[in-house]
Amino acid sequence: MFAYNCTSCHGPGIGNPGNEFKPGTDALRVKYNGDVPALLTERTDLTPDAVAYFVRNGISIMPFFRKTEISDADLAALGAYLNRNSAGR
Ligand code: HEC
Repeated sequence: MFAYNCTSCHGPGIGNPGNEFKPGTDALRVKYNGDVPALLTERTDLTPDAVAYFVRNGISIMPFFRKTEISDADLAALGAYLNRNSAGR
């Protein structure tokens, strides 16, 4: 689910021509200025609720995803995946 829907913006590697980073990775790199990793897959502070909020509502250039695109069950799996590095949250 993450690879299919999210890595185009939140993955590692170079972004669009002329951009060193992918757009989501770059936006979070600038936003947090190194306080947390720019890659979502390396974060340790993402709760499933927070992931669900951003996926269902979008933010800035990030689109929201409908239930026909990402079902509630898939969203729960995404939340668990991005929360896997977090100890006890
Ligand atoms: C079109 C590009 C794009 C896609 C696709 C995308 N995102 Fe994003 N996402 C962004 C950008 C850009 C931001 C940062 C917005 C800002 O705060 O300025 C962001 C922010 C986030 C945040 C908030 C992180 C924080 O600490 O502020 C989460 C969580 C997130 N995305 C999860 C996802 C997930 C999960 C998917 C796949 C279902 C996804 N995104 C798909 C571009 C994208």
